[in-house]
Amino acid sequence: MTAPDSPVPVTVVGLGAMGRAVAGAFLRAGHPVTVWNRSPGRAGELVAAGATEAPELAAAVAASPLVVVSLLDQRVSGEVLRPVAAELAGRTLVDLTSDTPERAREAGEWAAAAGIAYLDGAIMVPVDVVGSPEAMVLYSGPADVFAAARPALAALGGDARHLGEDLGLAALYDLAMLGFFYSAMAGLVSGFALVGSEGVRAADFVPFAEGIVSILPAIAAGTAAEVDSGDYAVSTGNVVMEAAGVGHVVAAARARGLDTGVIGAVKDLLDRAIAAGHGAHEFSSVVEVVRKPAA
Ligand SMILES: NC(=O)c1ccc[n+]([C@@H]2O[C@H](COP(=O)([O-])OP(=O)(O)OC[C@H]3O[C@@H](n4cnc5c(N)ncnc54)[C@H](OP(=O)(O)O)[C@@H]3O)[C@@H](O)[C@H]2O)c1
Repeated sequence: MTAPDSPVPVTVVGLGAMGRAVAGAFLRAGHPVTVWNRSPGRAGELVAAGATEAPELAAAVAASPLVVVSLLDQRVSGEVLRPVAAELAGRTLVDLTSDTPERAREAGEWAAAAGIAYLDGAIMVPVDVVGSPEAMVLYSGPADVFAAARPALAALGGDARHLGEDLGLAALYDLAMLGFFYSAMAGLVSGFALVGSEGVRAADFVPFAEGIVSILPAIAAGTAAEVDSGDYAVSTGNVVMEAAGVGHVVAAARARGLDTGVIGAVKDLLDRAIAAGHGAHEFSSVVEVVRKPAA
């Protein structure tokens, strides 16, 4: 990567796995980097690569106009950052720590009151992808703050998305993507367990799992159109038929002594959609049950 035209000094607060990856990406992009971590001993490789380790957080913050944070959660961010609010005033603070939209908005209110230009961010890729052209990082907060910080933030990845001024948006998208991903992962390992119960290796099932993955983009777009319009009229499947199919998965898993928590929850959701009058509708109609769960 070539050095930026005017490298901006960057301070990275938090040197867990992600904080170290973030600091490394800024270093590789040619930015002067100062780092700080609660526990000593985590900056060795970064210092060897040219970073400066500050002994105190206040000194670390004072070293750079751009302060980037990666900590366990935003409760911890608040505990760590609030005592150095005076040093942060007049600087740009980008908190890449994952948490809820509520915590992000709360942090934004604190930052505004303290005179800190604030963005919330969410890194959507593993540590080894940070800094690559494919790395997706979501941001929310004031557009002018994002525009000013963007050239430096480009070091973290080529796919930087500003979702809007509402500070909760990056966390909202982050959580929606995590919920989708982990639900799919739970379904994947459940599938491995089901075929494995009859001696089939997980690796031998992968090409079939990939078949499901390959049809998802078109299904996502079609389902989104139905969810946005509220028109669940059937063009392909219907919930009664789909619930019957899911029931077969539950029965087969139960017969083999497997945990049915994941697929059983799907069956329960579909049954409640049928009870709510969506039996003859598309799967997309299940969103109505998710939006208004029974009391
Ligand atoms: N790792 C990933 O693949 C990944 C991917 C996407 C997003 N993220 C997000 O990135 C953030 C950081 O993740 P990580 O993987 O770097 O986690 P991690 O390796 O567990 O590091 C946690 C960091 O938080 C600090 N910390 C925890 N409690 C603290 C406290 N009470 N006071 C001060 N510092 C405290 C730790 O400091 P000490 O060293 O002193 O314990 C460390 O710097 C999380 O929000 C995570 O969801 C991670």
